[in-house]
Amino acid sequence: MIKKCLFPAAGYGTRFLPATKAMPKEVMPIVNKPLIQYGVEEALDAGMHNIAIVTGRGKRALEDHFDVSYELEHQINGTPKEAYLADIRRLMKECTFSYTRQKEMKGLGHAILTGETLIGNEPFGVILADDLCDGDGEGVMSQMARIYAKYRCSVVAIEEVPMDQIHKYGVIAGSEIEDGLYMISDMVEKPAAEDAPSNHAIIGRYILTPDIFDILRETAPGLNGEIQITDALLTQAQRNMVLAYRFKGRRFDCGSMEGFVEATNHYYQRLNGGD
Ligand code: UTP
Repeated sequence: MIKKCLFPAAGYGTRFLPATKAMPKEVMPIVNKPLIQYGVEEALDAGMHNIAIVTGRGKRALEDHFDVSYELEHQINGTPKEAYLADIRRLMKECTFSYTRQKEMKGLGHAILTGETLIGNEPFGVILADDLCDGDGEGVMSQMARIYAKYRCSVVAIEEVPMDQIHKYGVIAGSEIEDGLYMISDMVEKPAAEDAPSNHAIIGRYILTPDIFDILRETAPGLNGEIQITDALLTQAQRNMVLAYRFKGRRFDCGSMEGFVEATNHYYQRLNGGD
């Protein structure tokens, strides 16, 4: 039902410098596949064929990854090595890719607003590719699309995190309306542990209704002078309803070195038939 998925990918990825000096964080590989490719596969599994990517300066590799590489492909045509391209060729066949640039890094909310031109007036998924999610038999975006189909409102994915980590996340408070599904009453961006309303942290998966764009336009810069999606979602929750969904599966914070290494080990084991 939801056709479009937005990938904000304009951030500088400073935690991975110097690797990200000339290379986008989103093309860093977990084993043999760039982070963003895992995200696009998850979107496609959820039926989202229109992939919209918010890029920035120095992010050309992202566009090239989802395009034909003539010389290389000519070289390996008809050889067993072609099998390595099967997954990416499927994505290129089944998805459309469109891009727009965020000229100034004014935060995730601003990046999502920049994507409006690619999304228009319809509900859409949002995937932050550096949060790599391995769904429990079903992709996290597919799980969320089912929630959206039932409730027709914005949905954010949440995870329970230890309180000593809570200051890194947007955090929700709400009442549980179904097992693992909360109606949001409050949201705080990166609170100190003593101010956090719960241990339910928002992770990089959202389904948003398009009224979020008008709300983002009205949202004043918050923490760090950035336009925070958390602030806009709180407004939306107060006007209508926003749900928080405790997803099934495992998330790796690949924007941090620890999460990146954990994900690498996890997917390497899988490739070798383990796990
Ligand atoms: P992060 O803060 O995790 O990414 O933003 P970052 O800024 O690239 O990384 P560090 O903290 O400097 O290491 C979450 C997501 O939002 C996107 C990022 O690309 C990332 O996918 N983002 C963030 C934008 O697209 N634009 C922004 O202005 C900010």
